[in-house]
Amino acid sequence: MAMETNARINAALKAAIDGSAGHPCPPRLVEAINYAVFPGGHRIRPRLCLAVAMAHEDCDRTVVESAMSSVELLHCASLVHDDMPCFDNAEIRRRRPAVHVEFGEPLALLCGDALIVLAFKTLARAARNAPKRGMRLLDIVCDGVGAPNGIVAGQGWECEADVPLFEYQRAKTGVLFAAATMAGAAAAGADHEPWGLLGERIGQAYQVADDLLDKFGNPDVIGKPVGQDEANDRPNAVNEMGARGASDLLEEMIGGAIDAIPDCTHRNELQLLIREE
Ligand code: IPE
Ligand code: IPE
Ligand code: MG
Ligand code: MG
Repeated sequence: MAMETNARINAALKAAIDGSAGHPCPPRLVEAINYAVFPGGHRIRPRLCLAVAMAHEDCDRTVVESAMSSVELLHCASLVHDDMPCFDNAEIRRRRPAVHVEFGEPLALLCGDALIVLAFKTLARAARNAPKRGMRLLDIVCDGVGAPNGIVAGQGWECEADVPLFEYQRAKTGVLFAAATMAGAAAAGADHEPWGLLGERIGQAYQVADDLLDKFGNPDVIGKPVGQDEANDRPNAVNEMGARGASDLLEEMIGGAIDAIPDCTHRNELQLLIREE
């Protein structure tokens, strides 16, 4: 990733976290929040959000930074909760102990809660200067993380006896990617709806790739345990369609994502970026 983009994302995340400082806060909670967000992982969702915003002429810098931070804060929160013993019970995340291992379960739960609230506070701040774009962002981001459509619903499928694989993956992963692309368009004052499909397709491809890595990846390379889906009896694309089926599906989804890029000023650059990813 371009250093410049990484630095911009990290600066926006830091501003979001520090912007709420000022009150005495339990120091270990502050530490857990920072640990969950920095140095971070792939940062693919904020990168996508930024790329879509930049593909438009009228990109509002402050608003797009709030949009991409809120999406990444929510993603980080979802990982903290996802690793906890009541979900996947995974001890390593991003090559180091998961938040609940490092700080204990109560602080991990609270850290995830704090990040979720902070994400919406960040959008509220954007709405002060740009009310119309800010309100639209709030709506889009809420849809990406709650129920019935977002991460909460996606994780909720794990408590059912019968899980429809694609609906599960769409809700737990695809919908936040769709929120990222739509938020990028909304931050630039554009019609956001046409950008949803692109995000959803990238997100679903990303989850199928994650399923392949869970089966065949090297934990030292990916920085998290493998074999988690089988250990926790989670639906996984490789189990449902075999390794060849899952990798064919992945290829097909990447092609479908590129086809789903709507017309915009910098369509070619955006196509290139997605291909590179
Ligand atoms: C992991 O997402 C969870 C999935 C949806 C597959 P990432 O691979 O984007 O996680 P980080 O942020 O890079 O650690
Ligand atoms: C990722 O789920 C989606 C979330 C909502 C966190 P997974 O459980 O498949 O992701 P990893 O493999 O732990 O990153
Ligand atoms: Mg999980
Ligand atoms: Mg997991």
